[in-house]
Amino acid sequence: MPIENIPRTIWWEDGKVMLIDQTRLPLVGDVLVCNTYEGVCLAIKSLAVRGAPALGVAAALGMALWVTEDSWDIYDHREFLRALDLAAHEITSTRPTATNLFWGAERIRRLAHDNKDLPLDELRELIVQEALAMQAEDEERNRAIGAHGAELLAEGSRVLTHCNAGSLATAYYGTALGVIFTAHEQGKIERVWMDETRPVLQGSRLTAWELRVAGVPSTLITDNMAASVMKAGEVDAVIVGADRIAANGDVANKIGTYGLAVLAKEHGIPFYVAAPTSTVDLTIETGDEIVIEERDPHEVAGFTVSGMMEPDSEVSTRAFDMLTEEGPYTLPLLRGHQMQIMRKGGAYQFDGWFRVAPPDVDIFNPAFDVSPAKYVTAIITECGIARPDYAESLSASCSGAGGLDELRPR
Ligand code: MRU
Repeated sequence: MPIENIPRTIWWEDGKVMLIDQTRLPLVGDVLVCNTYEGVCLAIKSLAVRGAPALGVAAALGMALWVTEDSWDIYDHREFLRALDLAAHEITSTRPTATNLFWGAERIRRLAHDNKDLPLDELRELIVQEALAMQAEDEERNRAIGAHGAELLAEGSRVLTHCNAGSLATAYYGTALGVIFTAHEQGKIERVWMDETRPVLQGSRLTAWELRVAGVPSTLITDNMAASVMKAGEVDAVIVGADRIAANGDVANKIGTYGLAVLAKEHGIPFYVAAPTSTVDLTIETGDEIVIEERDPHEVAGFTVSGMMEPDSEVSTRAFDMLTEEGPYTLPLLRGHQMQIMRKGGAYQFDGWFRVAPPDVDIFNPAFDVSPAKYVTAIITECGIARPDYAESLSASCSGAGGLDELRPR
């Protein structure tokens, strides 16, 4: 099956931002319509849209939405730029780690400030066009990353990946999975091992789904199985995405990546990071400066599940119909478990959260970790392949690419 069967992640339609709700994939494929930039902020916080490059595009489209929906009654240029800066601040306050979110908002902000003498209507149109161009550029970058990265893989490669650095984490095509898709087209992929990626399961829900849709042979494992799969000689390369890469090559990515980097080194397996230059943050020297997002403990305390139920008899259909007669029905449950059922066409959608850990247990839930540059064999960007020493190779390959450092106020 072709990769084209993977749906678009986020797009602009009739002046609205549309996105596929990744909190419910793959069992429910809802499209969320954001009518306001605040809606985009909520979608980012809830992980309905996630993955560093997709966040960059979401930030830009969110700004475009602010411009078209919230700024129509502003007639003064200074007031317009001040309010635009506030919207940018709100968007970038949603999540702290992925550079692309800041990069996306900053690129729009800079464009507006650089063109502040244009009539406001023209400036508004320019901003919308820029956001759309950024969406298209993201896909182009990912395809270039795919082409560069595939050169690193030999025929018959067995690759391990973590989290979802696929099409859903970008405007389209993916970074780490972009490399895998391209290598698969070239007949080089024997198997992809994918970690399920607790606590939010981006691996088992999103990567497993994308690879299946694209017809890439793949095997799902839990996070704690990677070590023994490597020890068994079943992995030829690890390829992951990134949320922020410091100037020295330290890489922040989904929690659990650091462990894989250390394991890869121990087993003599190359550890590759695939990311666009919009993820490279040359304004920070090392990974120590990266802010790691801490998320709600309920992600660790239990499991969130969404899916569709199709009753197998008239009796159960009648029971579900009764429950959902007046709209979504929330089941009264003890011990904090939550379950809501609603009618959807001829079936019933359920959304639940089930507690696994005992109530009041102390929980730590960092969403990302930092893999020191010494574990990273190469960083694949749209500009090519950077190898250590990254302080030199990264700044050379990113120069002129329009990263966060080049967008900083002059
Ligand atoms: O919390 P998420 O799902 O936004 O985390 C995503 C990741 O860590 C990805 O690996 C990273 O953003 C790279 S996506 C191409």
